[in-house]
Parts: sequence; C-alpha cells; structure tokens
Amino acid sequence: MSAAPGKIILFGEHSVVYGRPALAVPVTQVQANVEIKGSSRAGIWIHAPGIDLHAELGSLPQAHPLRATVTSTLIALGVDSVKNIEIDVQSSIPVASGLGSGAAVSVALIRALAEYCSHPINNELTNQLAYETEKLLHGTPSGIDNTVITYASPVYYLKDQPIQTFHVAQPFTIVIGNTGLPAPTKESVGDVRSLWQADPQRWEQIFNKVGEIARSARSAIETGDIPALGPLMNANHTLLQEMTVSCNELDVLVQAALAAGAAGAKLSGGGRGGNMIALADNKNAPVIAGALRLAGARHVIVTQVG
Ligand code: PMV
Repeated sequence: MSAAPGKIILFGEHSVVYGRPALAVPVTQVQANVEIKGSSRAGIWIHAPGIDLHAELGSLPQAHPLRATVTSTLIALGVDSVKNIEIDVQSSIPVASGLGSGAAVSVALIRALAEYCSHPINNELTNQLAYETEKLLHGTPSGIDNTVITYASPVYYLKDQPIQTFHVAQPFTIVIGNTGLPAPTKESVGDVRSLWQADPQRWEQIFNKVGEIARSARSAIETGDIPALGPLMNANHTLLQEMTVSCNELDVLVQAALAAGAAGAKLSGGGRGGNMIALADNKNAPVIAGALRLAGARHVIVTQVG
C-alpha cells in the first residue's frame, strides 16, 4: 500500500506559473492510497470508487491520467509488462478542490507500482512522472502540486529550479474552507494566460507583487513571525481578486473567516471555486471553522503547519 498526502498552497498560486515563488505545505489529514494485488483475472484492472471507475487499463483513453501514469511508470522502471493485477485507488482528498487530489493519486500510484515491481524509485523520478500526469490534467502546471506531495514537506517552489524545502520555526494553524464548487484550474490558468498576453506589463507587475509576498512569507515562517502572515495573506487575496480568479463564494468565506477573528485569509489554488485558507491560532480555530460552515463551506479542515 502506498500513500500520498493532500496539499495546500499558502502563497503565490498563479504567479508561480510565471516563475515567481510560491509556498505550499502537505495536508496529512487527507490522503490518497493505492494498493496493487496479483489477480487471477487477465489484464490490469483499475478500481477508483471515488470517481466510479472500474476498468481494464487498455479500455481507457491513452491520455486518461490513470492509464498514462501506469504506462509512463512501467516504461521508466524498465518493466516490459505487468499482467493480471488489480489496482485499488482510494482517496479521502476531495476532487477538484485545490487539495491536490490528482497529484496525490499519481504519486501513490507511481510508488505502488514501483513497490509491486520491486523496483526502488526515488523522489526525483516520482516527481517527474507525476508532473507528466499533471500536464494532462492541467495544461501548463507549474509543478508545485506534485512537488509538495512527493516530498511531503513545506516547499518554497520556483518553477524549473531545484526543490527547496523550508523550515517552520513556529507551528501555526490554518483552517481550510471548501466552497463545494469544483475549482476549474485549467480554465483559470488559461484565462490568466490570455489576460497576461493582452497586457504583459500590467500582469508582470501583479506577479512581482505576489512574488514579494511569497518571499516575505517564507522569511516570516522561518523566523517564527506568524503574526506577519495574516496581512500577507490578505494582500495576496486582493491580488488574486485582481487576477480575476476569486469568486463570490470564495470572497464570502474569506470575509466570514476574518469576521470570526482570523488574522488573514485568502483563496488557495486555482480559484473560482475550491478552497480558501484562514490563519488561526489554537483558540480561535474552532470558531473560524464554525463561521466557515455557517457561511456555506462544504468541508472544513483544521491543519497544523510545521
Ligand atoms: O488548483 P490547485 O490547487 O491545483 O493549484 C493550482 C495552482 C496554480 O498556481 C493556479 C497552477 C499551477 O500549476 O501552479
């Protein structure tokens, strides 16, 4: 059995696609699990009850993320063929919510295949393979999701740069509120691209401001200056609104969290649905969680960073 955690982006979504830094952390309360067993039935069978999928690999389209992941992993491992197996995919990560469900399933599947074939696989190759599947899912992903999930550590992510994990000097609490709307990441990333192409100068400035926020947030986390994170989150959310990737449902949850005492709040991930996050402390986290539920959040997760 192989497992991979969910993830949440703390700062820098969207501008990370344009080479600015972003911060993401694993969320271990939710995870994807993949188990592979030998079978008496011919073929490679995949069961993913969460998406109501029970199929033989060859019957899925070639670009189906599960089929593509199995195929590319077996090629990378140098395994000619694997016959008669049952692959069980279970995940407690809500789909299309910004918690990295697709990348977590890929990472758990890659590791489960390597384990089944008795081939050790390192994080670097796992991450590369998961990134290939992310491209199928999202078009032009930055690679942040597969990276934070593969390494299961807080990550300061710069596209096409060696992985940088960072130290959390003082643990802090984040409340994650889900709008219940699927986050159309591919679409929002595509729209941002069109807007950037139409006015690159303006958009580069927005991306620069977000990049500055992400850098400041990293040093605040590394020095234990947690109160500094609240205003940085609020400023990042305002810039995400300017980027057109927020929506009424996210803004309502952000306002509800702030009114309930959160030190800062912002959308997280692709936006226009999916999740928002709020900075809490141990005392007010339940109050913020309750306020988010009252304001319409579908799932609420309280998670400790560090
Ligand atoms: O929606 P999520 O959590 O998968 O995050 C997408 C993050 C973006 O920066 C919008 C896209 C990317 O590939 O980095």
